[in-house]
Amino acid sequence: MSTVDWAVLKAKALEVQKRAYAPYSGFEVGAALLGDDGEIYVGANVENASYGLCLCAERSAVAAALAAGTRRFRALAVVTPAERAASCCGTCRQVLAEFPPSFPVRCFTNGGDEVVTTVDELLPYAFGPSHLNEV
Ligand code: THU
Repeated sequence: MSTVDWAVLKAKALEVQKRAYAPYSGFEVGAALLGDDGEIYVGANVENASYGLCLCAERSAVAAALAAGTRRFRALAVVTPAERAASCCGTCRQVLAEFPPSFPVRCFTNGGDEVVTTVDELLPYAFGPSHLNEV
């Protein structure tokens, strides 16, 4: 497996972060997902006047990858504007775990803080598609 160019992935996440639609929280997030096809799929958060409908940047990137035909991933970079690096929310962890095998995740802030983790670490003992095949 080739190594991940985190600088490029982070740059893509920073670029798409500027296109986030976050008028309610003001918390703009960008995500860049490296597919095993070598392409980078990006996503930004999309909020809604009906607050509960907010879509996170991570799931937006997953949707872009799947729409392009990629379901296996090598790496994910996320950029948030917080002071401390904020890692993916619970809903996004479950959505990321839907597409094994696990891959590395790095959560950056605009200020330079960073969390280095993996999908497996983010959601241990995940419920996944394999369980559905056991009935
Ligand atoms: N958000 C993301 O897009 N990704 C995360 O990892 C954390 C939270 C979004 C959801 C909402 O639009 C805003 O950030 C504040 O929660």
